[in-house]
Amino acid sequence: MMKSRSVGIIGTGKYVPEKILTNADLEKMVDTNDEWIVSRTGIRERHIASSDQATSDLAYEAAIRALESAGLTAEDLELIIIATITPDTMFPSTACILQDKLGAKKAAAFDLSAACSGFVYGMATANGFIQTGMYKNALVIGADTLSRITDYTDRNTCVLFGDGAGAVILGEVPEGRGFLSFDLGAEGAGGELLKLEGGGSRLPASNETVQGGKHYIYMNGREVFKFAVRVMGTATEEVLRKAGKTKEEIDLFVPHQANIRIIQSARQRLSLPEEKCVVNVDKYANTSAASIPLALVEAAEDGRIKEGDTVLLVGFGGGLTWGASVIVW
Ligand SMILES: CC(C)(COP(=O)(O)OP(=O)(O)OC[C@H]1O[C@@H](n2cnc3c(N)ncnc32)[C@H](O)[C@@H]1OP(=O)(O)O)[C@@H](O)C(=O)NCCC(=O)NCCS
Repeated sequence: MMKSRSVGIIGTGKYVPEKILTNADLEKMVDTNDEWIVSRTGIRERHIASSDQATSDLAYEAAIRALESAGLTAEDLELIIIATITPDTMFPSTACILQDKLGAKKAAAFDLSAACSGFVYGMATANGFIQTGMYKNALVIGADTLSRITDYTDRNTCVLFGDGAGAVILGEVPEGRGFLSFDLGAEGAGGELLKLEGGGSRLPASNETVQGGKHYIYMNGREVFKFAVRVMGTATEEVLRKAGKTKEEIDLFVPHQANIRIIQSARQRLSLPEEKCVVNVDKYANTSAASIPLALVEAAEDGRIKEGDTVLLVGFGGGLTWGASVIVW
């Protein structure tokens, strides 16, 4: 059998907008308080895009940092995938808008929709392209501007979300390194639990959809919470099994940053000490597709990941979907 290529992360970059919205700010907007938000979610503040920033602008900032860290130029890129649920426009894709901004003339470009699992889905997709030899490298970005689809009069959801972008460059790496396994999944039957209904072909934008709040995120928090705790456990076990690794071999655990209680329950199920788990939900809140790359890139920049470390990523989100990966750094 032909030996397949080893594919891994060869560059990283991240970006969050400057403006910070604190829990104290939200107390002035809806009937909530810092104590409730921190105890139920672990969130203290989140970054919010300025009115002239769209998702491609956040993605661009993360992308140029990732290119620099990989030692590549935009002209070297062969593929761009942006995982997002808040594209600049319905079409063209945000990846095409970014391709032009970067001047990545050689790159194929498309968006991928798997909500908060989108970044792991995107890396799995790019990994496949590079493994087959179709492309030598890929820029994979998780970027979302959730503030644009958040109803800031709804206390159930407006405290939970923030904006940001995280980017990686994938390429061939030495044998034994890079991605060991992926586990992707979907439970479309739960799609109603977390959705944005308006503006698609089922319910095109109209005065009624605007008045009915159909262009905002709808979420059944309790049911999504149960789903999250369940699949974080099962996806983690499955991706470790596929990688031939045990939970004792995990050096760093990078879970989707939606809620500290979901993160702690997943960490405890793996019997991991706190220092092996990346948490930044306090600073950025849930940034959807950007959440896992923001946590991963921040951990790498902070020197928390050494060469040869085994890193486990796992996330869940709208769809419903989940995605996990084991990487040797
Ligand atoms: C949303 C979430 C934080 C709510 O926490 P919870 O402990 O389940 O809270 P409950 O749903 O039991 O609500 C408790 C009460 O707090 C109230 N509440 C909700 N948001 C509030 C807020 N921001 N401030 C104060 N009170 C709030 C509710 O109205 C409810 O009041 P009631 O009992 O009088 O109706 C939690 O369900 C969650 O994190 N779910 C998963 C969400 C998620 O991960 N989404 C992203 C998927 S990618």
